[in-house]
Parts: sequence; structure tokens; C-alpha cells
Amino acid sequence: MPIAVAVIGGGVIGEAVARNLISSGYDVIVSEKRVERVKDLEKTGLNVTTDNVAAASRAEIVILCVKPKDVEGVLKEVREEIKNKVVISLAAAITLDFLRRIAPEARFIRAMPNLAIIVRESFIAYCLSSDLSSEDLKKAIGVLSALGSANEVDESHMDAITALSGCAPAYLSLIAEAMMYAGLEVGLERNLALTLAAQAMVGTGKLILKGRRAPSEIRDMVTTPGGVTIEGLFELEKFPIRHAFMSAVKAAAEKSRRITLALTKG
Ligand SMILES: NC(=O)c1ccc[n+]([C@@H]2O[C@H](COP(=O)([O-])OP(=O)(O)OC[C@H]3O[C@@H](n4cnc5c(N)ncnc54)[C@H](OP(=O)(O)O)[C@@H]3O)[C@@H](O)[C@H]2O)c1
Repeated sequence: MPIAVAVIGGGVIGEAVARNLISSGYDVIVSEKRVERVKDLEKTGLNVTTDNVAAASRAEIVILCVKPKDVEGVLKEVREEIKNKVVISLAAAITLDFLRRIAPEARFIRAMPNLAIIVRESFIAYCLSSDLSSEDLKKAIGVLSALGSANEVDESHMDAITALSGCAPAYLSLIAEAMMYAGLEVGLERNLALTLAAQAMVGTGKLILKGRRAPSEIRDMVTTPGGVTIEGLFELEKFPIRHAFMSAVKAAAEKSRRITLALTKG
């Protein structure tokens, strides 16, 4: 029998979660409150309801994919149905402690994906509540691994991971777009320029992850004396690019900490 999973919140992340789980053989129901969205999801063949309680009651594992501000309301609504069940929260800034306070009889996992979950290329950072059994853990890791590259982390790192990995598709899209415009500037057709930029990002990521090359090593391997790349790098070095990224991630991590405090105090 396939494991029954309820995905609560059928937005961008909820839809991606549902699709990944279905393609890995899970029995998935999506619960979404917005009627137009329900219709859209149904049109694509997903099993959808507007009833969070019914969805949670038929599921073995519940995945929360609503915005952080909506987590408390949803948990209160399904508190009875999630007793003794594994609940995975993908909400940014919502701590395990907060989740347990609202629904003490559920067993929680907090996870942070990024938008690349749509193409199953997301790092899925997760942390575990101490009351999970080994059976719970096995099931949960199965689910998380169906979503992307699942890795356990210490919860104290979640704000930093949100700022770096959760936000990364936005930061890197900025670079992809800039590279596309750069391509236009040197006479390339728009789609070709964007594809070249995106493929270069994928390839460089794989060189780091699969090829085990350090970024500095990759740079040295591309840069020949008096060549084309050093000409480009010489221009880039006029701008504080590294500083810009370090500042962005630092500011985003601080913002995540502030949101955590605001949403989970009490
Ligand atoms: N997007 C990302 O890149 C990303 C990355 C990492 C983690 N996350 C986390 O993933 C979660 C979902 O993000 P998202 O981008 O998918 O948000 P989203 O597109 O806004 O999806 C959330 C969906 O849940 C619905 N909803 C709200 N309250 C509900 C309720 N009580 N019962 C059922 N459905 C309800 C929303 O409807 P309404 O629009 O009508 O409220 C919306 O359709 C968030 O907690 C976020 O922190 C997102």
C-alpha cells in the first residue's frame, strides 16, 4: 500500500511537493483553501480538497506548505487529526518548539527547500523533533528524499540556510538575467544567451558538487595567462560582487531571525 500523504497549502511549493511525491509512488491529497487554485490544481490531475481536516485524517504523513503566518491556524484546525502522526513543516521561520507548542501530540520535522524543488534539484535541509521514532524517521526521510537532496542540519542554522539556500534562486536569477543581457550586448540572440547562462550555472554547480572542484580551482582552470577570461575577471573585480552577496545573505538571515521572533514568541 502506498503511504498516504496530505499536503496542506497548494501553492508553488505544495504543488511541487505533491508532484514529486506522486512520481515516487505516494498517495497524495492536496488541501488548498483558494477555490480558483483548487480548480487549477484539479485540471492538472491532482487529487485536491478544500477540507484540511479530511485531508489530514486520511494521511499517515502531513506536509505543511502554507505561508508561515498561516501555520498556527492550520495546526489548530487539524490538531486532533495529526495526533501521533509525522508532520513536516516547510514554512520558513517556524521553529520546532513553536510547532510542538501548538500541537504537542504530533511529531514534527522542520525542513527548508528552495524553488528548485519544482525540478527536484533542491537541497532540503531538515531538523528533527526528539520524539520521532526510528519508524517515523525512516518514513520521513523517504518523503524528504523524494523532494530533493535531503540533509539533516542543526536547527540553529535554519535562518542562515533560509537566507542562503531558500533565497538562492532569486539571487541566482539576477545573475542569469544579467548574463542574458550581457549576451545581448555582445550580439547573441536572447534565448541562446539565457540558455548559455543557465547551463553554465548548472554545469558550475555540478563541477563543485559532483566534480569536487573548489570555486577557486574552477576559476584558475578557466583563466589562462593573457586570455579572454582574465579580461572579463579584471572587469568584474572593479565591482564588490562578493561583498554584495555576503551582505545580501547576512541581511536575509537577520530578517529571518526577526520573523521567527515575531511569529513564534509567546
Ligand atoms: N516559495 C519559496 O521559494 C519557498 C522556499 C522555501 C520554503 N518556502 C515555504 O513554503 C511555504 C509555502 O510557500 P509558497 O511559496 O508555496 O506559498 P504560496 O504559493 O502562497 O502557497 C500557499 C498556499 O496555501 C494556501 N493557504 C493559505 N491558508 C490555507 C489554509 N488554512 N488551508 C489550506 N491552504 C491555505 C494559500 O492560499 P491563499 O493564497 O489564498 O492564502 C496558498 O495557495 C511557506 O511557508 C514558505 O515559507 C517557500
